[in-house]
Amino acid sequence: MRPSYDLKRCRARIPVLADSIALANCSHAPRTEPARRAVESYLADWGRAVMDWDVWMEQVDQAKAEFAALIHASVEEVAMMPSVTAAAAVVASTFDHVRPRNRVLVSEAEFPTVGHVWLARERHGAEVRWVPLRDGVVPQEGYAELLDDRTELVCACHAFYQNGFKQDVGAIAQAAHEQGALIFVDAYQTAGLHPVDVRELDVDFLTSGVHKFLMGIPGIAFLYVKRELIDRLEPSFTGWFGREDIFAFDPKRLDWAATANRLEMATPPVVNAYVARAGIALIREIGCEAIREWTDALSQRLIDGGLARGLEIYGTTDVARKTATTAFVCPGNAEVIETRLLGRRIHAAARGRVIRLAPHYFNSIEDIETGLDALADLLASQ
Ligand SMILES: Cc1ncc(COP(=O)(O)O)c(C=O)c1O
Repeated sequence: MRPSYDLKRCRARIPVLADSIALANCSHAPRTEPARRAVESYLADWGRAVMDWDVWMEQVDQAKAEFAALIHASVEEVAMMPSVTAAAAVVASTFDHVRPRNRVLVSEAEFPTVGHVWLARERHGAEVRWVPLRDGVVPQEGYAELLDDRTELVCACHAFYQNGFKQDVGAIAQAAHEQGALIFVDAYQTAGLHPVDVRELDVDFLTSGVHKFLMGIPGIAFLYVKRELIDRLEPSFTGWFGREDIFAFDPKRLDWAATANRLEMATPPVVNAYVARAGIALIREIGCEAIREWTDALSQRLIDGGLARGLEIYGTTDVARKTATTAFVCPGNAEVIETRLLGRRIHAAARGRVIRLAPHYFNSIEDIETGLDALADLLASQ
């Protein structure tokens, strides 16, 4: 069993793989050679020109273009953000929560930040309703039960950060639209791993950062906004980068940019843009279809191998309904297990009572077997 691309060449571009097994990709990707070169190129530009605004903006635009191509959007529909949290907060600040349409459905599988942003909107009139998790998955009926003509927005992550459970956001988007509501999708756990097509899914907002499966660094994210919506969005969380003419320097006028740029606020995270561009380009070069195919095979191996070793899995064991991330229940302290695995040079990611093994395009079957052996061994000796 092998991927459709050159695994050896992919691994050679990630130095830490020489003596470690990187399986914490749902938390942070290892550094690639293209990422190192991107940081060096930022340092060279800084050293040469102090600040070369045109070069900066070219990098920012190219990073946005890479993300747009990744998700099948146009570049005018993509804003650069400092984080997924900021993306959610800016989107939230465009809503007025006019009763009776003031309900926001938030799935219990959202990363906490999304819940926090919407709970903080309750003092502005929003009413948060939780779509329940059951045994590590969100049954689709949960949305149907809560959706009605009082719903203004549905927040449905593409995949659950704790165990990789993947939601059918296309179907959720359709149900939301039928009730006149919009949908916000946090795709941080799928972008770079599975194909994401905003047109096919027909979502209104979609965001992701880059330091997980997009092989980048923290401190940058992208926000997609459907073209038809852009004109009516006026975020109260705004600043000079949201203007049509950012060099007007007129504090008394809100000239909203005609593109998704109107959701931007301030000087972009420039060095991060250099790295994001390189990370997304690398992923696009390999191709998300090919990555999905290989990581599905690794995911199946994780599930079968974990069950064969007597490990307990939190969430679905159906590869078609999940990403590459698999969560194993730790009866003791998952963080202790994470540290002990690291002692064996295996990177895994503890979250609550589970430890996550999350392979990516560069992992091998041997990585999975070694990771599972070590995990089973540590859990047995607890
Ligand atoms: C699904 C998901 N959303 C959001 C975040 C947080 O993103 P940020 O720190 O960029 O706000 C994470 C993890 O860091 C995540 O896994």
